[in-house]
Amino acid sequence: MAPAPATPLPPASAQGFSDDGGLWHGMPVVARGAHRVCVLDPVVHGHCLKYPLPVDPAVRRPLRHRLREAWARLVPRRQTNALELRAWRHLHARLGDRLDDRVARCVDLVATPAGQALRCALVVDAGGTPAPSLYDLLFGASRGRYHADALCDAVTRFETWLHVHAVPLFDLNSGNLVVVECAGIPELVCVDVKSVLGGKEIVPVSRWSRGLMQRKITRRADRLRARIRAHAPLAATQGAH
Ligand SMILES: Nc1ncnc2c1ncn2[C@@H]1O[C@H](COP(=O)(O)OP(=O)(O)OP(=O)(O)O)[C@@H](O)[C@H]1O
Ligand SMILES: [Mg+2]
Repeated sequence: MAPAPATPLPPASAQGFSDDGGLWHGMPVVARGAHRVCVLDPVVHGHCLKYPLPVDPAVRRPLRHRLREAWARLVPRRQTNALELRAWRHLHARLGDRLDDRVARCVDLVATPAGQALRCALVVDAGGTPAPSLYDLLFGASRGRYHADALCDAVTRFETWLHVHAVPLFDLNSGNLVVVECAGIPELVCVDVKSVLGGKEIVPVSRWSRGLMQRKITRRADRLRARIRAHAPLAATQGAH
């Protein structure tokens, strides 16, 4: 059974979703995250748009979250989409187009009838449908598609890539990673790199010291592998079926 989200989600209809949750402001939903919704871009083919979801005032949230949101309202460059775009540009300036293999490309912030959105390249599977997130593979409709070992090996290859390129991506949660298949083997692509800039540390020591960064990445990858082992069905055969 899927664990309850950390922050209870407000009723879908109150947030602009159709009754079945398939559309958001008339646009097909790719997935709904904890704070944002990702929809198919109706203007630029092969792209998606990410919108922050309105916060439900009736839901009690930790003080840390409320402070962060108040701070972001005052300083627009701290808002989620702006932060993600800056983080992606920061990485792209260092790594160039090789980044595309491991991180979904962010294009720009765009004004749309439904509000400001972040336009990103849509990560798709071989059939052209949006790639499932690791969360979806563990708890959602795609559960059972891969053996836990195959997913853990994918985490290890992704972790190696982070180490080799010294990428301080610490938010290795299963919703921020989607899975594409390369020659029958699952590979991870990150769709949310904002933690590269916006960590939880007040003094960001893990970004200053390569050793601390590597240890933190290793801890996060270990935690993700443990989560996969706890939740992925082990009886499934490796590869898509
Ligand atoms: N570029 C993309 N290609 C394919 N799917 C995507 C892409 N970006 C996001 N998604 C889907 O949308 C989901 C939510 O994305 P994202 O992590 O950006 O939102 P979020 O978690 O609500 O944001 P936050 O981390 O601020 O809470 C992902 O789990 C994934 O399924
Ligand atoms: Mg996210």
